[in-house]
Amino acid sequence: MVPDPEALRAHFAEPPADIALEDIELEGVPRHISCIMDGNGRWATARGLSRGEGHKAGIVSLQEVITAAVRLGVEVLSAYAFSTENWSRPKAEVNLLMRLFAKTFLEELPLLRRENVRVVFLGDLSALPSAIRETFEYGLAECEGHTGMVLALAVNYGARAEIARAARALALEVAAGERDAGSVTEDALAAHLYTAGLPDPELVIRTSGELRLSNYLLWQVAYAEFYITDTYWPDFDRWDLLRAIASFQGRDRRFGGLSA
Ligand code: IPE
Ligand code: IPE
Ligand code: MG
Repeated sequence: MVPDPEALRAHFAEPPADIALEDIELEGVPRHISCIMDGNGRWATARGLSRGEGHKAGIVSLQEVITAAVRLGVEVLSAYAFSTENWSRPKAEVNLLMRLFAKTFLEELPLLRRENVRVVFLGDLSALPSAIRETFEYGLAECEGHTGMVLALAVNYGARAEIARAARALALEVAAGERDAGSVTEDALAAHLYTAGLPDPELVIRTSGELRLSNYLLWQVAYAEFYITDTYWPDFDRWDLLRAIASFQGRDRRFGGLSA
């Protein structure tokens, strides 16, 4: 799915020395790219700025990656914005992040409309402050009917909680006699995850050099390729996205079999 070759070329005009649009195969762009957006705080600290400024700069990177992904014909872009463990941060930072998410979602509605982006949330929104949850619900309603790239935003997301929630739902269905235990298959479980209906990520990008998943999409990344860059998320741009895709395309994905 490569929507508009001209818009794509224009978007990736003036490349840096080491990467260009021609370095990737457009037919082989991953259907689902997932970003663990890390390093906002360190980016800010390195510049003598507050962590909040880092998070604001991180939003600009996300906007950049959303547009680039749409141009490249990515089907699903997911992004880890707030983990179930991030509640352990100082209250002021948590509040700032929540307000920033809500404000940005409202401000970006025109972009989401222009680019026909469908938005879904991964995670338990019921635990969010009500004003934030209501803003998300309003934004989701505004995006209804969009048919283009899916933007899956992981907010108050934890993979273990997600899997436990799916297991609970299946257990209730068995207890209610709606299904028998033998029907609890991989597909049945996947259909009860927040990502139900979405293809699994093929490429997971983590910025800021951390070599861990931090409780992200544990089920869905079973055969994903990982791309870790030392670049802090606020510095991550369209060219970094191309670098990640080029690296992905150089991999030998065997899925337990032998090389093709
Ligand atoms: C990622 O940046 C954003 C969130 C987790 C919300 P961090 O805030 O984790 O930045 P570092 O890791 O402290 O640099
Ligand atoms: C992972 O980043 C979560 C998000 C990017 C939202 P963290 O900064 O919270 O991860 P850890 O604590 O370094 O594992
Ligand atoms: Mg971090």
